[in-house]
Amino acid sequence: MTDTLTQPTDRLQWFREARFGMFIHWGVYSLLRNGEWAMNADSISVKDYLELARQFRAEQFDADAWARTAKRAGMKYMVLTTKHHDGFCLWDTKTTGFNAAKIGPRRDVVREFVDACRRHGLRVGLYWSWVDWNYPDWAKEFIWSDLNQWRRPFADPAKHERMVKYLHAQVRELMTHYGPIDVFWFDGGFLTAEQYRSRELLAEMGRLQPQMLINDRGGVPGDFGNPEGLMPTEGSARAWELCQCSAAFTTWTVPFDDLALFAPSSELLGLLSDAVALGGNLLLNFGPQADGAFAAPSLEQLQVIGAWMRKNKEAIYGAQAGPTGRQEWGVSSQKSEVRGQKSEGGVTVYLHVFRPAEKLAVRGFASRVRSARLLETGRAVRFSQKGANLVLALPSTRMLPQVVALEFDETPRFEPEGIRQRLDGSAILTANQAALRTAHADGKPALFLSPDALGGRIMGWKRVEDYVEWTFRVDRPGRFRPSFEFNQPESLNCYGRRLEMAVAGQAVRASVPLSGRHGQYARYPMAGAFRLARGTHTLTLKPTVLDPGILMNLRAVILEPES
Ligand code: GLC
Repeated sequence: MTDTLTQPTDRLQWFREARFGMFIHWGVYSLLRNGEWAMNADSISVKDYLELARQFRAEQFDADAWARTAKRAGMKYMVLTTKHHDGFCLWDTKTTGFNAAKIGPRRDVVREFVDACRRHGLRVGLYWSWVDWNYPDWAKEFIWSDLNQWRRPFADPAKHERMVKYLHAQVRELMTHYGPIDVFWFDGGFLTAEQYRSRELLAEMGRLQPQMLINDRGGVPGDFGNPEGLMPTEGSARAWELCQCSAAFTTWTVPFDDLALFAPSSELLGLLSDAVALGGNLLLNFGPQADGAFAAPSLEQLQVIGAWMRKNKEAIYGAQAGPTGRQEWGVSSQKSEVRGQKSEGGVTVYLHVFRPAEKLAVRGFASRVRSARLLETGRAVRFSQKGANLVLALPSTRMLPQVVALEFDETPRFEPEGIRQRLDGSAILTANQAALRTAHADGKPALFLSPDALGGRIMGWKRVEDYVEWTFRVDRPGRFRPSFEFNQPESLNCYGRRLEMAVAGQAVRASVPLSGRHGQYARYPMAGAFRLARGTHTLTLKPTVLDPGILMNLRAVILEPES
């Protein structure tokens, strides 16, 4: 770890360089298969939940194994849920008997976790929630109420003060019992900073742990932002970390008997590339099984991620946002000086290529490329550059994204060109580049873009009047066969999901089939073709029939020249 994480001159330096961490959601709720909100979602009483806590034995819990797994996957830090909303504390606390040292595992899980992270050279992060469904007064008054009620303190100020003291005492224990902590990760703040007396607490935390970073859910902005699920659309100067689930992109515990729900590793790597390309971190969540072991599908995901990281880490650790933004081929990160390489004023740009080609055209660089190399093999990549046209000769690979390091003598300028044909004549119209035509008749946002390095996803397609369109340029005219890349895991009757694609006065129709599992994208070749002349065209994609449900999540439309 010391080779990549240099001595911090400012507190955030290690965090900005680390780029990749592991989030762990683990607790009594891991026994149920209904997420970490199960106590609330399934209306489980405090008494029944206590019974459940007794069955939470953590037989296989081995903090060293967790740390080794995270490290092998290329993560530089870990964040553990020391207490989620259910109030069960994973440490030996004096504030409540509802803790892992006294009930269930009968071990101080936080101690074992912190020690293991340190032994394996990982930075230590503690997640802790303000919400506490087990705290007696709170449980009595609020637990089953509407979430809006949670935004009110107790009517009785004495009760409120007692709870705030209890919450502060928990944080104080975490700050004083386990040595230096690197990140404190607040969650579940329903009340205001004043009501929690956050400033006072954070000032004390700063005195106790002067190096520690604090996220933005403590009631004040803290040291870094924590977008959840969705990437910020553009890089920001402030440090940020996207937290994201690895199972179905929706649940923080793993549905371990449903293998179909695990996100493909390539999608997870796409999130990592995208976060780094925008100057942020990815905190990727895994929810171990109740016994403490990682579920087999999680281990498979982590193994693929680790193999990729071993080859491509240079483009991740210490890398900054790249110059290209999101392009049809992928995204980019950059570094102004690469260790061991003498390049005064030189800049290395890493292209994270998700849609490679034997001859890949990267249009828009207004600076000369000095050399190009593929990180997977370490070998030089043949290239030619004419004006803004850079053409790379890429070997085929199964390890996506393929990362190409381009050396420049200076900070390169990049001027994006609109959508053009690739060298093989195809045109890829990605979700990232689409214009969304969505009516907000009922005032609610409908169709939206979830942008990412893989082309993005158009989601929320529930209304027949919503459609998307792209404008693109054809330089080599001819006949083109259309297909779309989509995700549709719901086995609805496909007669209820029909669409029409139209361009240059011609239309092709299809119904949307199943794509397989959640998060998995398939390509559907439509029957028919378009004849396109040289020039600029606008292609529209519209539903014609849309029964209850979602048309699909759309990643791209691809036009291939007919051979
Ligand atoms: C969401 C979930 C919460 C989870 C958190 C992680 O807010 O409701 O349970 O811990 O995301 O960021």
